[in-house]
Amino acid sequence: MRLVLATSNQGKVREIKAMCSEFEVVAYSELMDAFEIIEDADTFKGNALIKARAVFKALDDEEAIVLADDSGISVDVLDGAPGIYSARYAGVGVTDKDNLYALIEAVKAEGVSESDAHYTAAIAIISNEGEQTVHGWMYGHVIVETRGDKGFGYDPMFIPEGYEKTLGELDADIKSALSHRSKALSLASLLIANIKKQREHR
Ligand code: IMP
Repeated sequence: MRLVLATSNQGKVREIKAMCSEFEVVAYSELMDAFEIIEDADTFKGNALIKARAVFKALDDEEAIVLADDSGISVDVLDGAPGIYSARYAGVGVTDKDNLYALIEAVKAEGVSESDAHYTAAIAIISNEGEQTVHGWMYGHVIVETRGDKGFGYDPMFIPEGYEKTLGELDADIKSALSHRSKALSLASLLIANIKKQREHR
């Protein structure tokens, strides 16, 4: 069963492909030219639905199952920022590195060297059978330096609960066992299995 990802973020595509090996997973940008999707909802869930709806409509394929992930990091000392603005914390059209260093500077500006923080992932699944959403979270803390270069985004400054190393230092399989995305994906894979069952019986 083919699952189309409504993202062209290579970090996410890599992680989702590795975690959903039971399905044939393709990024929508492998099927058509990537297009701009305005994510202007005020929740992770709302933005995941916007992305999934845009790609489902563009595919125009009644067998398609589209999966969109909207995710980000929320830092307690910053009252939950950057949250839904994680991808553009340092501005529009910036790199992951620009965002990472902007977040380090913002935490430093609060006069602390670490803060509790968590990642959130909202996943929307859209198919002809309907629209569904699930969430996953990963808790830990951020530090005001980068360590390691594994993962992507804010991973080099995030230490998951129960660990002493950042996600930039920990192996990918450890992140997959802990991450917000993997927790949301394991719920999403139940929804996809349900869609598959419905189709077998229609
Ligand atoms: P989105 O593509 O609009 O969902 O933006 C998500 C942003 O949140 C990314 O650009 C990253 O900066 C950050 N982010 C989400 N998940 C992760 C993760 O697993 N590791 C590091 N950064 C992440």
